Amino acid sequence: MKKVAVFGSGNGSNFQAIAEYFQEKDIEFTCISDKAGAFILKRAEKLGIKALHVPFKDTYNYLLKNKFDLVVLAGYMRIFPANVVKLAKIINIHPSLLPSFKGKGVIEEAYNAGVKVTGVTVHYVNEEVDSGEIIAQIPVFIKNRTTLDKLETDIHNIEHKLYPLVIDHLLFNKHFDVNINVIIASEAKQSQDFAITTPLQGS
Ligand code: GRF
Repeated sequence: MKKVAVFGSGNGSNFQAIAEYFQEKDIEFTCISDKAGAFILKRAEKLGIKALHVPFKDTYNYLLKNKFDLVVLAGYMRIFPANVVKLAKIINIHPSLLPSFKGKGVIEEAYNAGVKVTGVTVHYVNEEVDSGEIIAQIPVFIKNRTTLDKLETDIHNIEHKLYPLVIDHLLFNKHFDVNINVIIASEAKQSQDFAITTPLQGS
């Protein structure tokens, strides 16, 4: 039985996608938020998953006492200091092609900057913002007719597909390069809009 903690501060749509993907698998999830009323905790309760409010200042002690095979950040709006980062294998998902557009509000930032390609990155977490080793990336083209709304929807849809696959790879060594290509290629066919992929790097 693998133990996975998912940390989030807000909506929790990535957490929901992860929990649904692993429904049949032997994983014990714990959903943790630094915000007491966060919607991510409500999603967890609805899914029958342990939901905890752990204030940011208590995270070190919490992770010291509770060991996880993987800690997954999904919309967690805090930066772990070095002592916390050392306690677990921690990954994050970010809605840009890192190292471009670090921090908050980056889908809009990329859109307004007029870049032609943005995307989604899953990376290991270190004590600097969105700076750890990159594990996987999916690019998304921004075409002339692409609206900000559409770009946001496309990026979130890709996040919801990519993150569970990366977690599956890290926990169970599942190879997924081909699957990702299939998923993204089929979406691209439907929307006639994007995309290309890069293979998974590192693990
Ligand atoms: C996602 O876009 C993720 O990339 C970023 O924060 C957002 C979280 O969304 N780190 P949700 O809470 O999973 O819906």
